[in-house]
Amino acid sequence: MIGCGKADAAGPDNFVGDAKRGADLIKNYHCGGCHDIPGIAGADGNVGPPLHRVGTRTYIAGYIRNSPDNMAAWIEDPQKALPGNAMPRMGIPQKDARDIAAFLYTLK
Ligand code: HEC
Repeated sequence: MIGCGKADAAGPDNFVGDAKRGADLIKNYHCGGCHDIPGIAGADGNVGPPLHRVGTRTYIAGYIRNSPDNMAAWIEDPQKALPGNAMPRMGIPQKDARDIAAFLYTLK
């Protein structure tokens, strides 16, 4: 879809995921080694983009429509979501990916 309408940007009002658990998982998986992530102690990496306000961004990695399902799929396997991009596959189970996505959507 063409355009920058706010209406179809991310808005996971009924997305099921545990944001609090997601924050712990982000620490455990060391996402902060590559990303600057608000609210996560020590997460100040600069390999990938900062995740400030990623919850309201329109695209993931510049290509993928930012929706809860797409975000969870990205975290689960970024190489499947966008082959060849610089974020490695980390072997994150679906449940963990959804909880992490839930946390990321608190960043507005
Ligand atoms: C080895 C470094 C590395 C690690 C570890 C890593 N990422 Fe990434 N990540 C990247 C890079 C590089 C990109 C940019 C990909 C692109 O835009 O093509 C990225 C992109 C992203 C994006 C999209 C950001 C945007 O601006 O569109 C999200 C969300 C994300 N990562 C979340 C995570 C989470 C959550 C974790 C931990 C589970 C994680 N990343 C671990 C390197 C990493």
